[in-house]
Amino acid sequence: MTTRREMVTLLRLEEKKRRREPIVMVTAYDLPSAQAAEEAGVDLVLVGDTAAMTVLGYPSTVPVTIEEMLVLTNAVRRGLRTPLLVGDLPFGSYERSHVQAIASAQRLVKDAGCDVVKSEGAPADRARAIVAAGIPVMGHLGLTPQTATALGGGFKAQARTSEAARQLLEDALALERAGCFALVLEAVPAEVAAVVSARLRIPTIGVGAGPETDGQVLVLNDLLGVFEEFKPRFVKRYAELKREMVCAVTAFADEVRARRFPAAEHSYTIEPAELERFRSLLRSDA
Ligand code: KIV
Repeated sequence: MTTRREMVTLLRLEEKKRRREPIVMVTAYDLPSAQAAEEAGVDLVLVGDTAAMTVLGYPSTVPVTIEEMLVLTNAVRRGLRTPLLVGDLPFGSYERSHVQAIASAQRLVKDAGCDVVKSEGAPADRARAIVAAGIPVMGHLGLTPQTATALGGGFKAQARTSEAARQLLEDALALERAGCFALVLEAVPAEVAAVVSARLRIPTIGVGAGPETDGQVLVLNDLLGVFEEFKPRFVKRYAELKREMVCAVTAFADEVRARRFPAAEHSYTIEPAELERFRSLLRSDA
């Protein structure tokens, strides 16, 4: 007998934090990856702006547009039933004003079926405005790739001084007060993430933030070993699919060139009588 999994709700996530049950989040960018996340029974699926690099081939997350995110997010929506679907607000879609941020969040919800949205490093009042418009917001602090170079933080671990760690905690508490339902902590020392997680009522989801956060997230293409451009310290590969993909495509190319593919079992047939009629039609056309 198969048990039907219940849909994940914000209440369920709160409950998991209270019971100290680890929360699992993964990114997805298309139908097959969404279906894999669904079957694996994860709690949240994020259509992250990492799509810019992992599937769209941009050099960073900055260029991806809300229109591109909507296409990918819609594909993921079609493959999901139970996990909460988190839409990521890309760079340039929420910084200008509350009005712009609310409009972009509404597009992710109305046009792509997101349950909630995530915004990277947005000030607490911006998050509060989106929440007030009826859309739950997941915050994201620590390493925030959208602004990593512009703000001088760089693609490196954050909150490694006492002052920076205190600032991170203050920012996290401000996002909680603004109504965020959860917070991603990226690339911060495990000890700092543990303090922040203990001080917040809302769940923290860590990526490169040690084992004491309330949940963990990894970029799917990192954990599958599909994205090989670089591998941050915090990534663990659970498969080497890029290698498998290259092997499979190479085998296909070799078989085509050696005329071993397609074989009889991959081809359609025609009744001999029909074939003979076809040939005689060709003869009479000539
Ligand atoms: O965009 C993304 O994939 C993310 C995760 C790293 C949390 O923000």
